[in-house]
Amino acid sequence: MQTSALKELDSQYLIHPVSDFRGHQQKGVKILQSGKGPRVTDSEGETYLDAFAGLWCVNVGFGEQRIVDVASKQMSVLPYATGYFGFGSEPAIKLAEKLVSITPDSLQHVYFSLGGSDAVDAALRYITYYYNAIGKPQKKHIIALKRGYHGSSSVGAGVTGLPAFHANFDVPLPTHHHIACPYFYRSEFDTEQALIDASVQELKDKVAALGADNVAAFFCEPVVGSGGVIVPPKGWLTAIAKACKSLGILFVVDEVITGFGRTGKMFACEHENIQPDMMTMAKGLTSGYVPMGAVMMSDEIFKGIADGPHRSAVVGHGQTYSAHPVSAAVALEVISIYEEGLLEHAQAMTPYFEDKLQSILSHPLVGDVRNQGLLAAVELVADKSKKRQFPAELGLHEVIADIAWKNKLIFRAFGDNILGFAPALCYSKEDFDELFDLLQKTLDEVLSLDMVKKEMAR
Ligand SMILES: Cc1ncc(COP(=O)(O)O)c(C=O)c1O
Repeated sequence: MQTSALKELDSQYLIHPVSDFRGHQQKGVKILQSGKGPRVTDSEGETYLDAFAGLWCVNVGFGEQRIVDVASKQMSVLPYATGYFGFGSEPAIKLAEKLVSITPDSLQHVYFSLGGSDAVDAALRYITYYYNAIGKPQKKHIIALKRGYHGSSSVGAGVTGLPAFHANFDVPLPTHHHIACPYFYRSEFDTEQALIDASVQELKDKVAALGADNVAAFFCEPVVGSGGVIVPPKGWLTAIAKACKSLGILFVVDEVITGFGRTGKMFACEHENIQPDMMTMAKGLTSGYVPMGAVMMSDEIFKGIADGPHRSAVVGHGQTYSAHPVSAAVALEVISIYEEGLLEHAQAMTPYFEDKLQSILSHPLVGDVRNQGLLAAVELVADKSKKRQFPAELGLHEVIADIAWKNKLIFRAFGDNILGFAPALCYSKEDFDELFDLLQKTLDEVLSLDMVKKEMAR
């Protein structure tokens, strides 16, 4: 079908996630046609360097034939098996065992979802069930980070700490609370330790205000992703995990972005040897080739749900496609690819990536760069010394994304002009060179815009 006809149909019928419905209709869709390694080609035949791995998920890169073969084989052998009524399938069982073996020891059981939002939703439902089952039904409050993202399910969106996911959706619920994001670049603190101490204190104060007996859990991403790739100071995760334990609340890490090699370890928790009570994951689990997510839980939570004195006969949480055999087979293959050298390759490339990030810091528009592994942000400012941001009314982030697209580069341009990068783990040195050449070109063009010059001169 002709691109113009497809664009017309898209505008008429397809609702895009997290979009301005009318704005999207006016602008039109960019149709992607194919992908190979870290590059995608659009319906006009133009090829782009993808520095965002789709939506921080295609960690192995596009066009991995091994994955296609495994999916195709599983589809021909057994395309579907329900997990209901005691049925199961070999790939799903093997994957559950594999995930338990590669995640922190504290996590011993897995429930499979279709993506990240419903993994978070399942976590929230299991937490509610758990506390009811063990006779602590008043433990209902959830605390998370401002700027944190935990998906857009009807309850999970309230745990998310981003205003766009709240507006007009009647969340957060009265049981949802947010504390400050550990965002050192824009904090009032002189040292990282001072920020960590303040963050722990804020959590303790929040729990005290709500009453520890009423608080169920604290949710966070080890690196805040959609909120602007905010890398907390080293030691923050450990301090918060410790505080949760001492406060008697569950510590839930959302590794939907950070899992599966994105930050330089298989899971970001490993950087500080964190033992969470629950973990959510998706994206890199299947590298985006098919939909799948998971929530993992400790044996203590599992036992509370299974054996608690106040439990009900069945645990009424399920989905037709939970533990889908094709997704599970793909995930097993994807994990093999990480383990057979891709994770090591990404680790080896990280210093090169970091050097390049550091060098872009000298650009007049760049106020901060930060990363953990191959998850990074370049934060643009109108005034470096004052860290002054460009006014939101300029809509500069959209202009930046358009200029990058024209230059054949894809990254994420957040509303506050933070640029997010999540290159596929298969990036070569040459791919990184190309990324930063194109980024430099893009930033130079942005710098030459009248509206940018005017704002910087203020
Ligand atoms: C940390 C985190 N949690 C949850 C989600 C939701 O995942 P999904 O979009 O697969 O529903 C995302 C998606 O970006 C995420 O980054």
